[in-house]
Amino acid sequence: MTNRDDVIRIRGARIIDPFRGIDVKDDELHVAGGRIVSRDDVRDGSRPVRVVDAHGLWLVPRLTDMHVHLRSPGQEWKEDLVSGSQAAAAGGFTIVAPMGNTDPPVDIPSLVEWQRHRGDAIGLVRIFPIGTITHGLQGERLADLYTLEQAGAVGFSDDGRVVASARLMRAALSYSVSLRHPIIEHAEDRALAEGTVMHEGDVSQRLGLPGVPEQAEALIAWRDVELAGLTGGRLHLAHVSSLGTLAALAYAKRSGLTVSAEVTPHHLYLTDEAVEAWDYNPVTKVNPPLRPQSIRQALIEAVVSGLVPVIASDHAPHHADEKAQPYSAAPYGISGLETSLGTVLTVLLHSGRMNPVDLFARLSKGPDQVMGLNYPGLLTGAEADLTLIDPNARWTVDPARFYSKGHNTPMAGEQLTGRAVATMCRGRWTMRDGEVLEADGE
Ligand code: DOR
Repeated sequence: MTNRDDVIRIRGARIIDPFRGIDVKDDELHVAGGRIVSRDDVRDGSRPVRVVDAHGLWLVPRLTDMHVHLRSPGQEWKEDLVSGSQAAAAGGFTIVAPMGNTDPPVDIPSLVEWQRHRGDAIGLVRIFPIGTITHGLQGERLADLYTLEQAGAVGFSDDGRVVASARLMRAALSYSVSLRHPIIEHAEDRALAEGTVMHEGDVSQRLGLPGVPEQAEALIAWRDVELAGLTGGRLHLAHVSSLGTLAALAYAKRSGLTVSAEVTPHHLYLTDEAVEAWDYNPVTKVNPPLRPQSIRQALIEAVVSGLVPVIASDHAPHHADEKAQPYSAAPYGISGLETSLGTVLTVLLHSGRMNPVDLFARLSKGPDQVMGLNYPGLLTGAEADLTLIDPNARWTVDPARFYSKGHNTPMAGEQLTGRAVATMCRGRWTMRDGEVLEADGE
């Protein structure tokens, strides 16, 4: 057993720190008492030193997935905070931000506190909750955003549902001016989306499934960008997947508005052709839906250029029985925490599209800035949250090996290159060689 005060010396890794824009080969890092310490701090030899040989591996700080569904309270047959924490550690993440569309929804401070404290007790990942925007996710009156934030919420979202009322969204964005954390929108025009199950296009026509046009997303994205301009509020657009949304983001950027966005790994890797290839299997059913190649390419461009500063999984685990229903009845969602990193490395790094510093920024510094967390990077005194990655490990996605309870993924069977081989949270290894270590507080 490693004592918390022992020194861990990780040597030989290529250290890639997007917070400081650093990429250094064959470097070393010391950790003690849950923090990064300097070599001088540990030179006196008073504490045992455990040496970890990380030659051939990459070391990155604080991978953050700012959009996950951990289903607790209320839907623990899909996921709970233990299995969700294990999935996060297995996937290489040290922070996850669960959405508030639980049952009951996270619309009161005590639920934010409960998720946080329970996450700390489990001890595998930092759980930073997202509170709801509206009371009970009903879209009728605002939740008390200030007290949710005081309790530890790092953002506000009715994710899974749009805030349909422009008046309420205006109010939420107005409040966000005096808050530290963003309003996160699930942009989808309800009337256009009603009764649909996939992207509207050639594939939906061939399959005879009702489709939603990409404009359903862009209409709300443009509306919200206008409202961000009106209010000066802080807006983040979740899982963007439409050309019009990218245009709205570019406009917001040109206009100096505080607007950000995220893309999911599945929208970067797959297209709506997967719905056909999977032969009506609802593992491909997700909201927003998988899009055609032209949009997928535009999303990749937007991540490469930084127009979209965040990649987030929208990890949405469901029980096998729920996903075994016909396409029209099955719930939306893909279990993503354990495939996110490999998918992103395969699409963006091994294709030569991005350098490691920029790529890992989308998974660390990007979400940190959007949520206003202010992590300094791997500096002496910083909290020791880091991940060791084998960038060249080739592996095949096998959902049966997931720690998540949700095995629902159309990435099953895909060959990916690159994966996390060790995760450290608060100076303690939470995963090594693919095995998640025992949770504390269990
Ligand atoms: O596919 C999705 N599943 N999209 C969402 O917006 C919600 C999520 C869920 O909660 O299952």
